[in-house]
Amino acid sequence: MFSSGMSCVADFFTYETTKSVVVKSWTIGVINRAVQLLIISYFIGWVFLHEKAYQIRDTSIESSVVTKVKGFGKYSNRVMDTADYVTPPQGTSVFVIITKLIVTENQVQGFCPENQSQYKCKSNNDCKRPVPTTGGGILTGRCVNFNATFRTCEIQGWCPAEVDNVAVPVMLEAENFTLFIKNSIRFPLFNFEKGNLLPNLTTEDIQKCRFHPEKQPFCPILRLGDIVKFADQNFSSLAMTGGIIGIKIGWVCDLDHSEEHCIPRYSFNRLDSVSEKSKVSRGYNFRYAKYYKRENGTEFRTLMKAYGIRFDVLVYGNAGKFNIIPTLINTVAAFTSVGVGTVLCDIILLNFLKGADQYKAKKFEEVSEKVLQSDTATNPVYQSNQMLEGPYEEKHSTDSGAFSLGL
Ligand SMILES: *[C@@H]1O[C@H](CO)[C@@H](O)[C@H](O)[C@H]1NC(C)=O
Repeated sequence: MFSSGMSCVADFFTYETTKSVVVKSWTIGVINRAVQLLIISYFIGWVFLHEKAYQIRDTSIESSVVTKVKGFGKYSNRVMDTADYVTPPQGTSVFVIITKLIVTENQVQGFCPENQSQYKCKSNNDCKRPVPTTGGGILTGRCVNFNATFRTCEIQGWCPAEVDNVAVPVMLEAENFTLFIKNSIRFPLFNFEKGNLLPNLTTEDIQKCRFHPEKQPFCPILRLGDIVKFADQNFSSLAMTGGIIGIKIGWVCDLDHSEEHCIPRYSFNRLDSVSEKSKVSRGYNFRYAKYYKRENGTEFRTLMKAYGIRFDVLVYGNAGKFNIIPTLINTVAAFTSVGVGTVLCDIILLNFLKGADQYKAKKFEEVSEKVLQSDTATNPVYQSNQMLEGPYEEKHSTDSGAFSLGL
């Protein structure tokens, strides 16, 4: 009992290692080293140097954006300032510069004829059927005189109803307005903070400079006309229909280098390219109203349909820094992958090389049942039931194993 227990323990504390076959062939030798070189250079060149697999990466960038637009425009005999054309006024990362306005003044609550052609009618019955909800109010079901020549359905709502298919001018001065962007970012994993107002920026710069991708890539003041141009758009047609322009600020930082190398990169594009091509809903517009009260207490309003350019400041980025865990994992992966080369070499060696049969015979040893039984004679565990018969024989296989295609 005790001795068998000891042998179990002895069996456990052993080390197994694989037996190798060395093939002295130039062809397979060159292929083997070439494949290994390829794998090693892939890991060193792409995985480690280009993809920086030795770094841990923080992709959850935290960011705040403050914007401020400056400039004066002229629109329908009025000088427009920031408070007139920027909405919302809080300086958020998404804001609209209004470039075109269709104004309907002195609207009061009441009953009036609709003024769009699809509401034309001959009798009250024409106004009872379900009609489009694009009008200026709720249909009362009556057909009333619009003017001396034709009649339209009557609505209840803000009267007179808006006429929005009129041609109005565009405030082209908006092209020369400037946009100041203040952006602070933080990478929480490394507790790293930075802003787009770089330390070498002086007060003088901030008054004079204008952003340019090559000449002034870190100037935080951008001319609206330039932004639209960098996004490959035409300012006057964009101001006419309205549209959405993305201002992207990218922070891709390698924190193994000094902090000065962590810099913002600006890029621009049109975000609503769908509406650019669409025939049914082109551009971007919205309505808002200003409400007033007369001395006698009745309320009236000025309705505005505004066309404008919406700017979305989008901040993205990630930061990497050396860390031992990804370094170890990727190093192990690199070493393991070098072994993949043997799969390819085995396929070539056992199938396509001259003398493949001899290589197969050397690589795969065939052990028959008879040989097994003769072996048990020397194996103490199976000593009890030995049944030796026939001559002792060892054969070399010519076809076995996963890498042989059996050609
Ligand atoms: C913008 O400014 C330039 C130079 O100051 C001026 O020549 C140009 O007419 C301005 N553009 C508009 C649309 O007012």
